[in-house]
Amino acid sequence: MLNYCIACDLTYPLDTNRMRCGCGGLMEVRADWKADHDTWRDRPLGVWRYREMLPHIDGMVPVTLGEGGTGLHRADRMAQWCGIDELHIKNEGENPTGSFKDRGMTVGVTMAKAMGHSVVGCASTGNTAASLAAYAARAGLTAVVVVPAGKIALGKLAQSIVHGARVLAVKGNFDQALETIGLLAEEGSLYLLNSINPLRLEGQKTLVWEVLDQLDEVPDRVVYPVGNAGNISAAHKALVERDRMGMLPRMPRLTGVQAEGAAPFARMMASGADTLTSEPRPETVATAIRIGHPVSWPKARAAVMETGGTVTTVTDEEILAAQRALASLEGIFVEPASAASLAGLRKLVHVREVDARERVVCITTGNGLKDPDAVLRTSEGAVIEVEPDPRHVRATLEAWS
Ligand code: F0G
Repeated sequence: MLNYCIACDLTYPLDTNRMRCGCGGLMEVRADWKADHDTWRDRPLGVWRYREMLPHIDGMVPVTLGEGGTGLHRADRMAQWCGIDELHIKNEGENPTGSFKDRGMTVGVTMAKAMGHSVVGCASTGNTAASLAAYAARAGLTAVVVVPAGKIALGKLAQSIVHGARVLAVKGNFDQALETIGLLAEEGSLYLLNSINPLRLEGQKTLVWEVLDQLDEVPDRVVYPVGNAGNISAAHKALVERDRMGMLPRMPRLTGVQAEGAAPFARMMASGADTLTSEPRPETVATAIRIGHPVSWPKARAAVMETGGTVTTVTDEEILAAQRALASLEGIFVEPASAASLAGLRKLVHVREVDARERVVCITTGNGLKDPDAVLRTSEGAVIEVEPDPRHVRATLEAWS
């Protein structure tokens, strides 16, 4: 089991501190995986169910909080809102720290601990930081998290603080935070657990495997919000590996959605360019995906192109409308970045890039409770003050309808 450069095939040991090959290429874990349905049939749904298909080093003991095993919810009213026949929501907000990041983090922190690291770090728009802080606490490691000052949701900041991370707010954006901590990691001050670390993406493979195991048929399409482009890349790797094991009857189309103000990947794909032009000033209400230079873009590009998928953008208004629709029609409260997947699906159906007869899975990546700000900001008049008097309450309710 080794890390391979996806550009030049040079190999590195699994426990390397390098996050890029000398040629600048991204890395990925390759191994001679051996498993089939019988291997995990009797195990509960969750990340470690698929342990034969995850990185392994001698002496490692999983650092776990019970991640994965999130619900796949058939959502008929939301399907109608999006304009399609069949929609399922894979709600990653049900993870221990409230986002899909826990899948990558349980694997990343487990490996970091087994390698003997005592300090782990990341740059983050909030969720990676919260997840790293929790798993580092669980493992007895020190976490250093660098976040863009004033630009992360309050709940996520509170999570990082309460789990005991060293929280540094950088006067800049996520891309600058990542570059800064990346240099510290190269010096050997800490072990980097951003999704540029291929071990993180290994854990995130389990998301789409769970979808396949929860749904009796392969979906036509899986829709992801895209920020740093790690998650959609992990999905592609997971599907390719499952295909190689003869366990994927057909390939679902991987589809990415970016916020209009932070959409360098979508723009690259739309223009047919083969390199990414960064967005120097990314801006969106969906702070989790407020990213101007998605580091995993080469993997994400392959994910979309090789599965016949697509990438689109949505406005902040469309994101907030989708968030509200999902919460009020299905009872699922997600953060704005997560709602981008649904807003994007609706748009793609509207412009007929997605056929209404498709069976679609939308990934909602983070819990709405992490970031209630936008909802409250846009809910003026939603709470009506009343006297503790039944007549007044009745009159108010009657006036409502
Ligand atoms: N949705 C949420 C809720 C996220 O927190 C992120 C990324 C994404 C989607 C995008 O996933 O980066 O793999 O394309 N959040 C990172 C963080 C960047 O620091 O928490 P991606």
